[in-house]
Amino acid sequence: MTRAPGELWRSTVGRKALVALSGLVLWVWVILHVFGNLTLFSGAAAADGYAEALQRAPAALWAVRAGLAVAAAVHVVAVASLARVARAARPRHESRAAREPGALAARSMRVGGVALLGFIVYHLLHLTLGVAHPGFRPGHVYDNVVLGLRPTWVAAVYLGAAALLGLHLFHGLWAAIRSLGLRPGVAGRRRRPAVALLSGAIAAGFAAIPLAVLAGWLR
Ligand code: HEM
Repeated sequence: MTRAPGELWRSTVGRKALVALSGLVLWVWVILHVFGNLTLFSGAAAADGYAEALQRAPAALWAVRAGLAVAAAVHVVAVASLARVARAARPRHESRAAREPGALAARSMRVGGVALLGFIVYHLLHLTLGVAHPGFRPGHVYDNVVLGLRPTWVAAVYLGAAALLGLHLFHGLWAAIRSLGLRPGVAGRRRRPAVALLSGAIAAGFAAIPLAVLAGWLR
């Protein structure tokens, strides 16, 4: 079954499938980013060399960036559109308790998602463009990260984002499985701890960097 994206967009089921598929693309990218970040533990030469190697393949780098931007835009716009539909369908004075089960989880995903989006904007200004980083030097990824995360409040922002991302990935993957009609069943539900472990490992991988800077292991 192949359907044009336009056709998928027209139904709420199709838009849920687009949220799920774009979410899966973002999942894969986040795993790659954690592995990229771990080069920081091998020192400045390894981390700066890794970033430089990416710059030496500009076509591939920009293709990945474009794919990432499209996936993120589809994800956010489809979620916003589904939220509008859900709001319009809800009786005006419905109590919180009477709302559909899962409505609270969906709402927390949206609130968490908006917070993550805010973090990503700050993060790009901080470590990619350097405009929110007083000591930023282009190409010096290791120094930019270590100096940039030294203030406790900045490290706390990154730690909060890592925790939020772990929760978002965990709940998002289950929602995606349901949206794509892949009923998890009993066998699938038994894999929940494995999904929790993977999401937790990604969160821990991101959190390791600010923690190592605060502890003075990365300096
Ligand atoms: C402690 C955690 C993190 C560290 C140390 C970190 C580090 C970095 C660095 C150094 C860059 C710039 C790379 C370069 O210019 O060569 C970057 C880019 C980026 N990061 Fe992170 N990051 C972290 C967490 C996150 C999280 C949680 C997200 C999103 C959920 C994220 C999303 C991005 C994006 C979208 C880019 C731009 C990629 C590009 O320009 O191609 N990062 N990160």
